[in-house]
Amino acid sequence: MHTRIRTLEEYHADYQQSIEDPDAFWAEAAEAFTWRKKWNTVRGGDFSPAGESTWYAGATLNITENCLDRHLAQRANKLAIVFEPNDPKTRHLRLTYRELHQRVCQFANVLKQNGVQKGDRVVLYLPMIPALAIAVLACARIGAVHGVIFAGFSATAVADRINDADAAFVLTADGLDRGAKQIPVKSVVDKALEHCPSVRRVIVVEHTGWPVELKEGRDVWYHDEVKSVSNDCPAEEMAAEDPLFILYTSGSTGKPKGVVHTQAGYMVWADYTFRNVFQVEENDMHWCTADIGWVTGHTYGLYGPLLAGSTTLLFEGVPTFPSPGRFWEVIDKHHVTIFYTAPTAIRSLMATPIDHVLAYSLSSLRVLGSVGEPINEEAWHWYDQHVGKGRCPIVDTWWQTETGGIMISALAGITPSVPARAGLPLPGVQPVLLNQDGSEIEGNDQEGYLVIKGSWPGVIRTTWGDHERARQTYFAPYPGYYFTGDGARRDEKGLYRIIGRVDDVINVSGHRFGTAEIENAINQSDYVVESAVVGYPHDVKGQGIYAYVICQHGVPTTDLDLQMAEASIIEAVVAEIGRIAKPDKIQFVSGLPKTRSGKIMRRILRKVAEGETTNLGDVTTLLDPLVVEEILAGRK
Ligand code: WTA
Repeated sequence: MHTRIRTLEEYHADYQQSIEDPDAFWAEAAEAFTWRKKWNTVRGGDFSPAGESTWYAGATLNITENCLDRHLAQRANKLAIVFEPNDPKTRHLRLTYRELHQRVCQFANVLKQNGVQKGDRVVLYLPMIPALAIAVLACARIGAVHGVIFAGFSATAVADRINDADAAFVLTADGLDRGAKQIPVKSVVDKALEHCPSVRRVIVVEHTGWPVELKEGRDVWYHDEVKSVSNDCPAEEMAAEDPLFILYTSGSTGKPKGVVHTQAGYMVWADYTFRNVFQVEENDMHWCTADIGWVTGHTYGLYGPLLAGSTTLLFEGVPTFPSPGRFWEVIDKHHVTIFYTAPTAIRSLMATPIDHVLAYSLSSLRVLGSVGEPINEEAWHWYDQHVGKGRCPIVDTWWQTETGGIMISALAGITPSVPARAGLPLPGVQPVLLNQDGSEIEGNDQEGYLVIKGSWPGVIRTTWGDHERARQTYFAPYPGYYFTGDGARRDEKGLYRIIGRVDDVINVSGHRFGTAEIENAINQSDYVVESAVVGYPHDVKGQGIYAYVICQHGVPTTDLDLQMAEASIIEAVVAEIGRIAKPDKIQFVSGLPKTRSGKIMRRILRKVAEGETTNLGDVTTLLDPLVVEEILAGRK
């Protein structure tokens, strides 16, 4: 076992060892950490059928001691976080490991002073600023379970998550700038909290300086609270399987579920995958563009880099503000060496004049990464040529909120990196392709349902408050395997290519939504009787949202009716979920293609949305085959 794989031979040897003797492999991978107490068993639990995994059971630790204290001896003055604000004219901020450690301790003491205890859930709804990173670590320091919500979700979505997590504490800010947009995050929280009786305390970080109302007895300013706390906060001793965080993500049915990750396994997985996939060196400047509100931001914007003692860049803004050259400008400004972003960002920048890229040298770059959705070959080549200048390996990293960290990917410069292939599995990961009946598909050049055989340290432990849901979703469909929800192809060389979701989840600009979740939001509009949502190929977003809607008073006939209905639907989606889930196309229909038993035939809706006009498959089982003609005629 090599803590850092450096050659293809080492990869193959380590992969084999990780499968043959996982206990020895993952014991060694965990050696370098600070443990208060060592584990009794490396791997345990009952993966199937109970959907229970344990890693390092019996051990105790605190992840922030491993992210911070452990580095103080050697790296106290090394930069831990570099912050680049939304507006390039405002000053950036740099925090060394020593400074970050101090701020985390202070924030942790503020939490304690406000009654937060080990095991309490704390919801964070904050801009991408250092306070968000500090607050996350402060929760972990005292053993509170952090639940970060991307600050683009609506008040209703925030309320749902707070209630599901039964959180008594919320951390937020006065406001947020994202590109040219401004979001009054505190008022979103205020609105959410009208429906959250469990919340006792809101701690508000001053960021934009906008006026906000503090509710007496509930809300306090962070800058007032911090005055009276010390800089010292001993880390809480946590059991390996105590929850570390909850992160909400969409599935094919019901409301988003709270994916739970625990202390030790997540830590080992985040560290191991980060260092190996990106081939991290001591002086790297790592920039993961994902917001900490998503799992990518958790694992590769925060925990992975800090566990490895690296420097991570936090960026508050968006790729196109104030110009489409912003990413490249930031790379040159901070000498970024590892750059990790989503295909949707690459595609949107590809569409702008190439001069925006050519204006910058990008000579500091060493490794490029892609995550969140399949990267198409055109985008891969553009990224390689214009950003990597043909000299930076690209890692196309496949993983999920539920997997905690990267599962299938090239190791930069070591294992094969081929356009549109995620590549080979990481040590410890056994991908399997299944037929619909659950039988394993052997050999190369094959396609099937992607499942993972057996457990790995970063596997989802449960869904918050409802273990049965996790079991049903991930572990029961094919006993002995973790069900990913993705389809994949193993090419002639054994490299994996991710095809996309096989369930009713759509991936819009790398953000996951359940079609049922969006339909439920659309149905909140007074105009709507019923709706059906499908994904369709979109040049920039990967997938776009196509909604078929039946209105209260039939298909709108006048322009005014049409506009009012559309506006009402969009308003409903923005209110229920947030702007990020706005439908790209809305088609009003008088009926939906249903079988005699009342089931919507989504296959047909998907084909029409994809632009297929003739080959819709068998429509004879439909209750009313005529609706198909109407839908085809009115296609957007
Ligand atoms: C998709 C994001 C192709 C996939 C880390 C998965 C990808 C879902 C890739 C998880 C990739 C993620 N190539 N598809 N490199 N990475 N996906 O939970 O469909 O937000 O199931 O995690 O994104 O999305 P999530």
